[in-house]
Amino acid sequence: MAEMACLTVSPDSQGQGDGERMLKHIEQRARAAGFKRLFVLTTTAAHWFIKRGFVQKSFDDLPKDRQNMYNWQRKSLVLIKNL
Ligand SMILES: CC(C)(COP(=O)(O)OP(=O)(O)OC[C@H]1O[C@@H](n2cnc3c(N)ncnc32)[C@H](O)[C@@H]1OP(=O)(O)O)[C@@H](O)C(=O)NCCC(=O)NCCS
Repeated sequence: MAEMACLTVSPDSQGQGDGERMLKHIEQRARAAGFKRLFVLTTTAAHWFIKRGFVQKSFDDLPKDRQNMYNWQRKSLVLIKNL
């Protein structure tokens, strides 16, 4: 499983499909590198990712080394997509 640590589009350019194009490109690269799943932690864009095939999961579904770095104050949602 790979983490997509950050995906952001300039506020001036949002809503024009760039986010989706970048996501598809990242998914392709992750697949080519042999990853089976991609996860993101987000506080602001869960619905955007869910619309694009991510499923809300729990903290326990994160890799153990990532669990150790989880920031409980941010209360990020854990979203995972099968590639
Ligand atoms: C989330 C983000 C990457 C999407 O990129 P984008 O280029 O604006 O997205 P696209 O143009 O591919 O898709 C636009 C669609 O997403 C919707 N959308 C945009 N931001 C959204 C959000 N935060 N939550 C839910 N839907 C969102 C738009 O309404 C639009 O919907 P439609 O397809 O039904 O018209 C961008 O809004 C962003 O950088 N946000 C701030 C940073 C962030 O929250 N990053 C994710 C956390 S790691």
